Amino acid sequence: MPPTRATTKERSAVRTLLRLWPYVRPVRVRLFAAASVAIVASCTGLVIPLVLKWMVDGPVADRDPGGVWLGALYLLLLGFAEALLFGLRRWLVARPLSHVEASMRAGLYAHLQRLPVAFHDRWASGQLLSRATTDLMLLRMFLAFPLTFLLVNGVTILVGVVIMLAQDWTLGLVILGPTVPVMWTCVIFEKRYAKVARLAQDQVGDLTTVVEESVLGIRIIKGFGRHRSQARAFRELVRTLRGTELRKARMLATIWGVIVTLPEVAIGAALFWGSVQVAEGDLSAGTLVAFLSTALALRWPVESIGFLLAMSQEAATATERYFEVRDALQEDADSAAAERGPSAQFPAPLRGTVHPPVGERPDRGAGNCATSPNAPAPAPDNDGIRFDSVSFRYPDAAPDSTPTLAHVDLHIRPGESMALVGATGSGKTTLTALIPRLHETTSGRITLDGADITAMPREELRALVAMAFEEPTLFSASVGENVLMGADDNAGEPELARALAVAQADFAHTLPQGTGTQVGEQGLSLSGGQRQRLALARAVVGRPRFLVLDDPLSALDVHTEAAVEAALRDVLTDTTALIVAHRPSTVLLADRVALLSGGRITAVGTHHELLRTNAEYAHLMSGEDHRR
Ligand SMILES: Nc1ncnc2c1ncn2[C@@H]1O[C@H](COP(=O)(O)OP(=O)(O)O)[C@@H](O)[C@H]1O
Ligand SMILES: [Mg+2]
Repeated sequence: MPPTRATTKERSAVRTLLRLWPYVRPVRVRLFAAASVAIVASCTGLVIPLVLKWMVDGPVADRDPGGVWLGALYLLLLGFAEALLFGLRRWLVARPLSHVEASMRAGLYAHLQRLPVAFHDRWASGQLLSRATTDLMLLRMFLAFPLTFLLVNGVTILVGVVIMLAQDWTLGLVILGPTVPVMWTCVIFEKRYAKVARLAQDQVGDLTTVVEESVLGIRIIKGFGRHRSQARAFRELVRTLRGTELRKARMLATIWGVIVTLPEVAIGAALFWGSVQVAEGDLSAGTLVAFLSTALALRWPVESIGFLLAMSQEAATATERYFEVRDALQEDADSAAAERGPSAQFPAPLRGTVHPPVGERPDRGAGNCATSPNAPAPAPDNDGIRFDSVSFRYPDAAPDSTPTLAHVDLHIRPGESMALVGATGSGKTTLTALIPRLHETTSGRITLDGADITAMPREELRALVAMAFEEPTLFSASVGENVLMGADDNAGEPELARALAVAQADFAHTLPQGTGTQVGEQGLSLSGGQRQRLALARAVVGRPRFLVLDDPLSALDVHTEAAVEAALRDVLTDTTALIVAHRPSTVLLADRVALLSGGRITAVGTHHELLRTNAEYAHLMSGEDHRR
């Protein structure tokens, strides 16, 4: 686990929270209406002491029962109005705020979809999950409650203080005595609480990551009998989080103590001083009653300030965490510049080292200018796939490490299928990922039919290139939906059937509900080979011009593989393909083979040529044979 990071950067909670405005704007009218209603309701409460004063100094002093009954009726009506208004406020805010939460969540999800792979490589999934759930819930609660009540209680306190000063200004000053120490405590508290709140929310993210990993890796944990150590590690994280939460509770207790005690002492002092004045005849009993009941009515608004501030701090932290993700640059924003901005300040959640954004790397070679999206794209011709002195280094690799790919030159002719062979870790997967721009080349350029891929809109590029990866991923949807993801929207049953046939995935028709059977996490579990074949069907269903297959047949038995190859050969006649392969049988499917070694393409030729002329190739192929 990466250590949890408390970023102790100073930030203003108010400025952070102001970033929520664009989301709150659509519901601002209701929110302001709700706040106004709450202010009126709260101030209604402050009229009650004035009625009491009138009762004590009037009907009670005059022993007039009718007047007392009338006063009681007024009090009842006031109480009723207050309750009604608070109810109205709740009704006003509930719906618009769930709308704010929903739109923020949808925005985050859409953004996550558009972030480059390099971003997802760096960020732990639990951190993203916790931001989309816990943090957004905190924000909704903040908008519903503390935001309104900080305002409402502030106004109520102000009005109450004015009323008290108007009743008797000396008593008012006694009550106002603790203001300065209370405010000072609040300021100190805010700063400290902000740090601990951030720590706690980051730790929730780590916890989410561990839960997620152990659910996904449950077979490995069980298979290796690691459930005890896993549970121990989890308990450790839980204990850390509990420690942080206790620190929060202690801070809250301290500020609560100060905020409750000091005003109580002041009220006691005012009671004493007021009684002396009443005894000496300087003050009417009704005024003292009104004064003290106003002071008591202000107890809740004052006491609540502590936890309202705490909740606001948590909301500010949540906002900060939310926008760390939202500020990360999307793929389309700028072709080569990966994440910059606030996310670059927090790569630590993620892996620890700060690295310069890809596009701004000083070591980008002169060839770089050719990859500029501004360069005029040559007219498309029938040229196939061309790698032109392509170098690549992972964004999180040390700047002085040797690049994963260095000056790769490779030409795959139109309609040709090229096998890519290389030892494990030689960079085959990396090279294939460059074609649909899942990663950006560090230097050099890649062209498809003569068009520079960086000059094309990504959507267009990815419509041209279809991929199947080593690790076949199926989503929680039907088999048909999973496969048809690879085609445009008007593809239907015939395309699906053809793709399943090519990928030798006809087993799909015999599943309980045929191609409508649900698969993925929420559905039926399939074997590795079955999943690979569906992923392959997804790659070929759209009849792509360019097909990139990263070792798509590794989990198939030899006979199925041969059948897939025979069917693929038909598809590949009008498709330009790059196929990562390990076994000679897969390599034989291709027209030519390229050998990747030491980050470069060291040999290109037919399987038989390379077997004869290249010792490394012969070794790789024979090694594979032995394994079988
Ligand atoms: N996301 C990544 N970030 C940093 N390094 C990576 C990443 N993915 C792969 N690598 C490194 O790049 C090298 C090539 O990996 P890869 O292309 O997956 O090899 P192959 O597919 O040929 O087995 C390996 O040394 C691997 O450690
Ligand atoms: Mg690989």
